[in-house]
Amino acid sequence: MTGKKEATPDLKSGKSAKTVEDFAKYFQPPSLKEAKKRGKEEIKVHYNFDIPDDMQEIGKGKRYHVRTYGCQMNEHDSETISGILEAMGYTAVGNVEEADVVLFNTCAIRENAEDKVFGELGHMKRLKNNNPNLILGVCGCMSQEEKVVNKILKSYQQVDLIFGTHNIHRLPHLLRDAMFSKEMVIEVWSKEGDIIENMPKIREGNIKAWVNIMYGCDKFCTYCIVPYTRGKERSRRPEDVIAEVRDLARQGYKEIMLLGQNVNAYGKDFEDMEYGFGDLLDEIRKIDIPRIRFTTSHPRDFDDHLIEVLGKRGNLVEHIHLPVQSGSTEVLKRMARKYSREHYLELVRKIKAVIPDVVLTTDIIVGFPGETDEQFEETLSLVEEVGYDSAYTFIYSPREGTPAAVMEDNVPIEVKKQRLYRLNELLAKIGLEKNLPLQDQVVEVLVEGESKNNPEVLAGRTRTNKLVHFIGDKSLIGQFAHVKITDVKTWTLHGEIVTKIEV
Ligand code: SAH
Ligand code: SF4
Ligand code: F3S
Repeated sequence: MTGKKEATPDLKSGKSAKTVEDFAKYFQPPSLKEAKKRGKEEIKVHYNFDIPDDMQEIGKGKRYHVRTYGCQMNEHDSETISGILEAMGYTAVGNVEEADVVLFNTCAIRENAEDKVFGELGHMKRLKNNNPNLILGVCGCMSQEEKVVNKILKSYQQVDLIFGTHNIHRLPHLLRDAMFSKEMVIEVWSKEGDIIENMPKIREGNIKAWVNIMYGCDKFCTYCIVPYTRGKERSRRPEDVIAEVRDLARQGYKEIMLLGQNVNAYGKDFEDMEYGFGDLLDEIRKIDIPRIRFTTSHPRDFDDHLIEVLGKRGNLVEHIHLPVQSGSTEVLKRMARKYSREHYLELVRKIKAVIPDVVLTTDIIVGFPGETDEQFEETLSLVEEVGYDSAYTFIYSPREGTPAAVMEDNVPIEVKKQRLYRLNELLAKIGLEKNLPLQDQVVEVLVEGESKNNPEVLAGRTRTNKLVHFIGDKSLIGQFAHVKITDVKTWTLHGEIVTKIEV
């Protein structure tokens, strides 16, 4: 079943292409320009996803491997892809060498993310030569870029299948086409499809679960590729989100992460009701599940009602990831973030007034085109003023087709690197200061598994998402424990178990 408004109507499924010219002849290539158009059409929700009979057994006795490169949304898409493949009879395998189907679920956010994918696609050539029956597919955000599709056609003929972020539900058909075609099968929609509910999912682990509340992004920050690769904002119906969270609670999951590129815009696209993210959280908090998180919050749409609901706490944790990007109003303006330094600081003040122990984390870009030393200093001073517990920091990476990519950039790369270094130093200093008061405190930890570096040690997270290591019995994995913090580091806490908590 396809979305009703196929945005690329002359795209014929089942066609395949060997060259860039074939591609241009048969297909409407994914176009960032087309993707930018935000149609007024109503988004339909489909509940009747199924796998056609002749494809349900197609993967029997075969193995698949999905490699994910992107954000949590991308990770969650991989869970759907796995769900669809397993419904077709495939079983998962941990390495590409033993797989019959390998899918790279890609990310386009920065150049280095794309370089990594091209590097690994290159390595797949040898594997494909050894096993010509292997199906190698590329999906995710990079597939939505015309230049990427053309580059794969030109230089990566080992790829059998390319599909995008809007047609994951077409995977059974596309895979069958790829199996029987000698040429590359490409199906990418420049515009978003409808919302497809009830696609099967194979979730990673049984402790924490991701739940999409919306898709796409309409913010068009000038540096960012996401609104083009993910289409316009579409919210899932609240009853569908709530039903999914309830079901996960029944299955025994302990923590839900609600996902959207800008969760605070949730519901703005509903035409039949006034219902926002605050309303959704107010209902979800009543579900019997110990922890609810969400990502990502855009500061602009963070309203008072949402702050009030978060103030009710319970399973709504005291951690908010609130990307600021820059501390300079002038830079924020050029980024089209649509808030000023003052507005952001006022929002932080309001949040802290209601949740005094809130932990704030953020994303920051340094070296945006034309960023002056003074403007960068404003970012440092904002970081001090807010007092983030941690942050993801990036050097600006131009993305072709975005407005910032054509802005004059007079900041030398060495200066950008130096700024990143200074910013990270400051964040480390503040991170440690924030953690020091936890010394000798007892915190609630959701035990997630063994520590990455030492299987003798357990790893878990506090409500504020801080990583805690402690020695304990493996039976604690998936449970809550009270842990007394005995050693405080910049990014981790070490402790000893006090009690297991029965929930
Ligand atoms: N929707 C989220 C961000 C998703 S992308 C939000 O608006 O908060 C995650 C982060 O990647 C962004 O917050 C930004 O800091 C960074 N990022 C996005 N585009 C980038 C680019 N072109 N160069 C460098 N960093 C970028
Ligand atoms: Fe990108 Fe801005 Fe949308 Fe976040 S809000 S995904 S940074 S355009
Ligand atoms: Fe990357 Fe796409 Fe996520 S560009 S960050 S995988 S939405």
